[in-house]
Amino acid sequence: MGKLAPSILSADFSVLGQQAEAVSAAGADYIHVDVMDGHFVPNISFGAAVMKSLDRRETADYDVHLMIESPDLYIPDFVTEKTRFITVHQEACVHLHRTVQSIKSHGVGAGVSLNPATPVSVLEYVLSDVDLILVMSVNPGFGGQKFISSAMEKIRQLDHIRRENGLSYVIEVDGGITLENAESVVNAGCDILVAGSSVFGADDIEDRVKTFKNLIG
Ligand code: DX5
Ligand code: ZN
Repeated sequence: MGKLAPSILSADFSVLGQQAEAVSAAGADYIHVDVMDGHFVPNISFGAAVMKSLDRRETADYDVHLMIESPDLYIPDFVTEKTRFITVHQEACVHLHRTVQSIKSHGVGAGVSLNPATPVSVLEYVLSDVDLILVMSVNPGFGGQKFISSAMEKIRQLDHIRRENGLSYVIEVDGGITLENAESVVNAGCDILVAGSSVFGADDIEDRVKTFKNLIG
């Protein structure tokens, strides 16, 4: 059974509040918040002020994905009553263990993300500390890219390690998720699917959320 986290990176920002409410009412489990700084990734998206403008709306909880350098400096900015997870990139954290503890000190689930070229093994000594592992199935920076199939092996590996060691992190997959590949990604061990363009690019975004949920729920 999989959960769905629509990425508002692909939303129409001129009506962000309405769209975030619409996908939430249709059954989205989280609102995926993609923060990009133009340094860690070659694109700039939006910051905490935009996310916080959704606090006044009736939306699902936030699943924050920080694609930024020096994430430690900004973690507190993204903590609100609706923040469920804050995820940082392993590649952006010199002191990853400290960063994970810092996220948890705010009472928020700590996530770590791996770029497509980064092996699972780099997480060996934080596996029992993290609440979520985000497998990037595209190179982060843009919506609408094609799913990189080597992510499947990474998902299976993380699911295997979790079972073998009785660990409880959730596995999330981000990038190139479509109605065609959603089921196989969940079957490989993914708990939360992020979907940007395949939700917000649809003619009827509520109907698209329901179709996804029927497939994976
Ligand atoms: C990529 C972002 C993703 C992106 C996914 O850098 O982290 O969350 O919005 O978009 P799609 O689903 O269109 O690949
Ligand atoms: Zn993301």
